[in-house]
Amino acid sequence: MKTGSLFSAMIIGGILLSGSNSQAVDNKGAESIVLKGGSLGSITLSHRLHQGVLADCKPCHELFPKESQVVDKMKAEGKLQRKNVMDMCKKCHKDMADKGQKTGPTNCTDCHKR
Ligand code: HEC
Ligand code: HEC
Ligand code: HEC
Repeated sequence: MKTGSLFSAMIIGGILLSGSNSQAVDNKGAESIVLKGGSLGSITLSHRLHQGVLADCKPCHELFPKESQVVDKMKAEGKLQRKNVMDMCKKCHKDMADKGQKTGPTNCTDCHKR
């Protein structure tokens, strides 16, 4: 009995592990993501466009994990300050623009829409 239940626990554990692993590798998330941006209005991020154009998932996911609604959650918990994510977005756009490369906006209302 004892070895039997240990054996089933190992099988179940193995199934759970392999399931979550393949999801972590394959899941690219939503094509487009809307972020809350206060009184100026929300921001629509073309997630897939950025994934295609940038070399990897950094620098965005160095700041927060690959989870839905995590930016609002971390801001509420004080793990991200207001505008931390925004400053990261703008910094990349500004650095690339300074080098004359095609990039995203740095003007408030090109990101924030009411
Ligand atoms: C330009 C920034 C940026 C890049 C680059 C980026 N992501 Fe995301 N990702 C986000 C944001 C913003 C969210 C949503 C966070 C929230 O809802 O609070 C997110 C959420 C996710 C989620 C959670 C599900 C969802 O759609 O909300 C997954 C999965 C994910 N990203 C995978 C990836 C993978 C894989 C890569 C690299 C191939 C990547 N992301 C690159 C910004 C980015
Ligand atoms: C590259 C896109 C982008 C640009 C340009 C931009 N923002 Fe943002 N802004 C965001 C994102 C994404 C968030 C939500 C995440 C965060 O708070 O970091 C945000 C959040 C905010 C917030 C809400 C913070 C809070 O938690 O209450 C304010 C206010 C704001 N932005 C003002 C501005 C102003 C003013 C400008 C122009 C000087 C500006 N933004 C330019 C993307 C941008
Ligand atoms: C490491 C660099 C980098 C980071 C970080 C980054 N972007 Fe961009 N962004 C780009 C580049 C490059 C383009 C131009 C893509 C193209 O059109 O070829 C772009 C384009 C855009 C555009 C215009 C195209 C469109 O319609 O979506 C918006 C809006 C935008 N980014 C918002 C954001 C927001 C919001 C964040 C942060 C959550 C962010 N970006 C983070 C590099 C970056």
